[in-house]
Amino acid sequence: MKNINYVPFITNSEVKKRIKDIAKEINKEYKNKVPVFIGVLNGAFVFMADLIREIKIDCEIDFYKLSSYGDRKISSGEVKSLKDLNCDITGRDVIVVEDIIDSGLSIKYIKEDIQKQNPKSLKIASLLFKEGVSNLYFDIDYIGFKIPNEFVVGYGLDYAQKYRNLKGIFVLKKV
Ligand code: IMP
Ligand code: MG
Repeated sequence: MKNINYVPFITNSEVKKRIKDIAKEINKEYKNKVPVFIGVLNGAFVFMADLIREIKIDCEIDFYKLSSYGDRKISSGEVKSLKDLNCDITGRDVIVVEDIIDSGLSIKYIKEDIQKQNPKSLKIASLLFKEGVSNLYFDIDYIGFKIPNEFVVGYGLDYAQKYRNLKGIFVLKKV
């Protein structure tokens, strides 16, 4: 794209290595349980696919879709649900899989929506977490990387729907 430059930030092998570590923790913590992983579309689809293939215990998956950003880099501040869950998560051990937590608005909305459905437990895994941006009243249980407040793309993350296919994670800079 014109006037935009993307700078390498986290390589694909660094991401894969970190995902293996997170999966190890989950495998241990959910031993003898059958968690439901809920991927948040679209951004989390690559992370979800890689994470799930490092999970050694029985598990199920479903997807949730939200919209808040449109084609802009700044959040509209309004979260909308575009696709609900297909499975019944009442009494289930749920792990929400997000690509990135920025303002925290989306994850707050998702957590509150899922809690209404009375899961047995609810944890959150986010590949990226922008430090010092959100002001959440709860913890994110599994974080891949804490990053500075920059706009990043690749590995499922987009800018105006582009760049999701990049293998690594890049910082988007205006030039
Ligand atoms: P939040 O509601 O502000 O925490 O934003 C969450 C959603 O916005 C993420 O799940 C992403 O889809 C998108 N988002 C936030 N920051 C970025 C970024 O730096 N690059 C790409 N997408 C982002
Ligand atoms: Mg997202």
